[in-house]
Amino acid sequence: MTHQVPTARPRRLRRSPAMRRLVSETRLHAADLVLPMFVKEGVDEPAPITSMPGVAQHSMDSLRRAAVEAAEAGVGGLMLFGVPATRDAVGSCATEPDGILNAGLRALVEEVGDDVVVMADLCLDEFTDHGHCGVLRADGTVDNDATLARYADMALAQAETGAHLLGLSGMMDGQTAVVRAALDGAGHTDVSLLAYSAKYASSFYGPFRDAVDSALQGDRRTYQMDAGNRREGLREATLDLAEGADVVMVKPAMSYLDVLSDVAAHSPVPVAAYQVSGELAMIEAAAAQGWIDRRRAIEESLLGIRRAGADMTFTYWATEVAGWLR
Ligand code: PBG
Repeated sequence: MTHQVPTARPRRLRRSPAMRRLVSETRLHAADLVLPMFVKEGVDEPAPITSMPGVAQHSMDSLRRAAVEAAEAGVGGLMLFGVPATRDAVGSCATEPDGILNAGLRALVEEVGDDVVVMADLCLDEFTDHGHCGVLRADGTVDNDATLARYADMALAQAETGAHLLGLSGMMDGQTAVVRAALDGAGHTDVSLLAYSAKYASSFYGPFRDAVDSALQGDRRTYQMDAGNRREGLREATLDLAEGADVVMVKPAMSYLDVLSDVAAHSPVPVAAYQVSGELAMIEAAAAQGWIDRRRAIEESLLGIRRAGADMTFTYWATEVAGWLR
């Protein structure tokens, strides 16, 4: 029996760190990372979020400090969520000029607005006493079109803070068009819209609900997407593009890389992916047990998301990873 000698030897390109670095197809860049942040009303000190190791609900002061740290590390954007002290059926705090989210956005614009893109979460769930992303009808279902009117008002309040980009995360039909028209009608033609186009109803948002002290009973399955649907992700992104989205997003990231790949293949605008709270929690928990190498797992997860097609990635590790990349 003659011994077969391979003619193709892919291992040649893996033989040294220098060679592997040279032929690497995908790299992480600090500028492509977006740090989601939480600011809580009425607190003087940041409060750690137990289910999200390393992440805190910020006070206004600690928010400013963390924003400067992220900007100095080279992070590309900051996405702010507000945690109000009081909630009501229509999420009034979201549209008050001095509501916690709007006040936080002003602080970010003032502190780091020349260096990073300041982004606002445009959704009602943090502000409603029932925890849904919109306003409810008498029968308890989410009223799509009444919610759109609230989103338009919220967008105007956010644009007034100087925020550069608004992230539409509510999954209401037509939200991108309504918000774009409201902004343009008020002269805010330069404010960008990032549509959370393919946002799935996910168990991986669990820790986030602790982060925003969510009051939600039940689930979001009548507006967020079903985990089994791939084609529908492209449909949602296509609608948002037609409505004027400047960036489209797939969320969560790691369980939806096929959808991300589809959207990236078709989108003429930049594509974002959101590595959500439960994705952070899984890696942190396994690493804390000593079951995986934390840094390698974080880098690998972010490389996978980028390889699948994300031009920018929202990750709670943004500042830390940006530090590693320096
Ligand atoms: C809704 C919103 C959610 C997240 C971001 N925006 C929660 C939800 O839809 O239930 C989740 C982010 C995360 O889990 O990290 N405003």
